[in-house]
Amino acid sequence: MNILVTGGAGYIGSHTVKMLNKMGKNVVAYDNLVKGHKDAVKCDVFVKGDIFDSELLEDTIKKYNIDSVIHFAAYSLVGESMEKPMMYYKNNVEGTLNLLEVMLKNGVKNLVFSSTAAVYGEPERVPITEDLPKNPTNVYGRTKLIMEGAMEDYSRSYGLNYIALRYFNACGADEEGDIGEDHNPESHLIPLVLQAALGKRDSIKIFGDDYPTNDGTCIRDYIHVNDLAMAHYLALEALINGHKSDVYNLGNGVGFSVKEIIDAAEEVVGHPIKREIVSRRPGDPAILIASSEKIKNDLGWKTKYTDIKEIIRTAYIWHKNNPNGYDDK
Ligand code: UFG
Repeated sequence: MNILVTGGAGYIGSHTVKMLNKMGKNVVAYDNLVKGHKDAVKCDVFVKGDIFDSELLEDTIKKYNIDSVIHFAAYSLVGESMEKPMMYYKNNVEGTLNLLEVMLKNGVKNLVFSSTAAVYGEPERVPITEDLPKNPTNVYGRTKLIMEGAMEDYSRSYGLNYIALRYFNACGADEEGDIGEDHNPESHLIPLVLQAALGKRDSIKIFGDDYPTNDGTCIRDYIHVNDLAMAHYLALEALINGHKSDVYNLGNGVGFSVKEIIDAAEEVVGHPIKREIVSRRPGDPAILIASSEKIKNDLGWKTKYTDIKEIIRTAYIWHKNNPNGYDDK
């Protein structure tokens, strides 16, 4: 297995690169470093490059004898995608189509693709199974759904073998403490809560407490980044062993409200965290919880991190030791 990981310097990409490298796989991390961090790359080969650079992609595939690709490189902020749709269509759709073209031209047919729970939009029921209607409520989710469709077509016509993984709420950090979550600007709940706990911001703002949930705040399914990383490995192994193209959800199957996350974080850090209720954030579904039975049954995926406090603790170690993210390195 010689694996090209696009977006290998990003949050989920870097955790996957590190895990594959530890398992003795030959990994080439490929990232343009627009969002990613060079210090996050924990493997021997790093190529600074863009997924639009067909020549560099082709050279890299040939030079390292690449037979499989894990494609993370994408923009992934829901709010930003609504403000700048062109940027999202260009990068997530056109960029991915370019990567697919170079891959197929060079005989690389195995692909694990980063998709998202955002493809479902407001689900008609939870837990969400893969067959539920896909009605994205934001541009980000739509770009990922478009690519799922393109891959299905490429699979039929060109023999592409792909597995699309629909992540729910990725969180946590590798326990060794050398890599973690560092977005600029940060918009995700757990890092923001921990920044408030560490005095990096005044308080955590709760986006609405009038949702139809137990405490009025939104419920999400939080899944540890290393459990996600492991799913990529299993998906790639399955493809290489002849598994047909497929789509899987990745979540813990348990929902936590925003207030429950802040309460759990208070227990982890050992002191109260200042919170304030503000208005709803547009486009937030009330409840998203995954059913991940399909990947468990098909590929034997198991989650290692099921305790939300344990998950938050791994993130806390990273944020405490790197209050400015990779700028501290
Ligand atoms: N939230 C707050 N305050 C904040 C930040 C978030 O109350 O300061 C709330 C949000 O309203 C939401 C929950 O915390 O209810 C989680 O928000 P995140 O921004 O951490 O994550 P999202 O659920 O919005 O989105 C995440 C990924 C997306 C992906 C989506 C799929 O960031 O890329 O999950 O479910 F599309």
